[in-house]
Amino acid sequence: MEKNNFKNLTLDPENWDEIREIGHQMIDDLVDYWKGIREEPVWKPIPSEIKSTFETPIPNQGKSPKSVYQEFKETIFAYNKGNVHPRFFAWIQGTGNPMGVWGDLLASGMNPNVTIGEHAPLYVDKQVVNWCKSLVGFPEESSGILVSGGSMANITALTVARNSYKTANIRKNGLQKTEERLLIYCSQETHSCIEKAAEIIGLGTDSVRKIEVNERFEMIPEKLESQIQADLAAGYSPLCIVGTSGTVNTGSIDPLDELLKLSRKYGIWFHVDGAYGALCKLDPSYAGRLKAIEEADSLAFDLHKWLYVPYEIGCTLIRDKNKHRASFAITPNYLLPENRGLAGGLDSLNNYGFELSRGFKALKVWMSLKEQGMEKYKLMIAQNNRQAEYLGKLVESKAQLELTAPVCMSITCFRMVVPNFTEDQHRELNREILLRLQEEGIASPSSTILNGKFTLRIANVNQRTRFEDMELLVEEVLRIGNSILSASTESE
Ligand SMILES: Cc1ncc(COP(=O)(O)O)c(C=O)c1O
Repeated sequence: MEKNNFKNLTLDPENWDEIREIGHQMIDDLVDYWKGIREEPVWKPIPSEIKSTFETPIPNQGKSPKSVYQEFKETIFAYNKGNVHPRFFAWIQGTGNPMGVWGDLLASGMNPNVTIGEHAPLYVDKQVVNWCKSLVGFPEESSGILVSGGSMANITALTVARNSYKTANIRKNGLQKTEERLLIYCSQETHSCIEKAAEIIGLGTDSVRKIEVNERFEMIPEKLESQIQADLAAGYSPLCIVGTSGTVNTGSIDPLDELLKLSRKYGIWFHVDGAYGALCKLDPSYAGRLKAIEEADSLAFDLHKWLYVPYEIGCTLIRDKNKHRASFAITPNYLLPENRGLAGGLDSLNNYGFELSRGFKALKVWMSLKEQGMEKYKLMIAQNNRQAEYLGKLVESKAQLELTAPVCMSITCFRMVVPNFTEDQHRELNREILLRLQEEGIASPSSTILNGKFTLRIANVNQRTRFEDMELLVEEVLRIGNSILSASTESE
């Protein structure tokens, strides 16, 4: 009786031609979107009647694929964030690339769970991890895992550092049985995910020593060494030094060579957060300063930033494969490996990270690198760096603008200045410039505060940006800034 009630229900369509047609339409619409994106506003506000559609409950009955897609176009597609646009420069967010999108589409359609088992996607995942090692010069015998992004990549690495700490067997005992106070050293400019990671792995934020930076926003190694010595003298246990290759605020680079030396001198784990800037190593202008990445105990970096592939994907690399595996390996009865059949093949990726179920995120990288080749990526990254430097020069050529940090990697920080303005007036002026740039759809920088100065921040990991976009940006900042200034003079 029950059996008859269900009539072999499925979510597959009754009419395969209809779903094929709508799929073709989606591809056409995406290609038109990318092709014409330069002529569109970077961003536009979402009307409240559209926002209210996101508060409706789950429909009881479904509707046709065509009408679902139509609703998506009107309410979602039309109000995207804008990081596909050539003048999106906010935070540090990649553009995505067409072949990467097709990679995600195929990955989703194939839908493998890329953790365990004998199937091609697991070999692709392994190949992409190996390619990640060669992109940054990590040794072949190291290990790695693809994760959702930089934050996950950093906490994965710090977990391995913590679990490898001397003979404490923290994995078994937790931190409850250790009297030692483990410490992480990073700079004042380090990304907040390191602090979050310290909280989650049980060290707490008081265990994060934020070392002072110099005028170029780079960690001062002498300050680091004195802090380590003071901590040792007080009986604390230095666990890990985190150097950043490309800080989120200004793109600055910690003195990685010196941090590496100190880590070896004191027997401390050396981790590099290269979420944004590890791949900058591919630009010959930066390769020398980033060479020490190759010697790090662990590295975290994002592929959705400077490899331009669609969200999400980051990578953790660990120099000592055994320490990596010993940190996560676990084999419950329901995950037994075999030497033949579906459960045969490679070591389960469950043994190298926290996540069990994993999507086929490697495919978008595999397809993109095959399509473009390494040389093209080297040029793309160098192009972003040269565009940032070009913007820096444009800023320096205008009396009404000032750089608020040295240009490093592909981040340019600047603001409009008016003689005799207070800091509050500068903040108000530059905030208004920022908001109008966004609201008029011209460009999307973000902001930060550097040494107390409110600043426009242009972070360029954009594969669509052209040099002329930087010229337009400067012209528009001046146009908007001067119109704000003249309106306020008129109203006085
Ligand atoms: C230096 C640095 N570390 C970590 C992160 C966090 O990476 P994600 O946003 O991919 O989690 C970022 C993000 O911008 C970053 O710039």
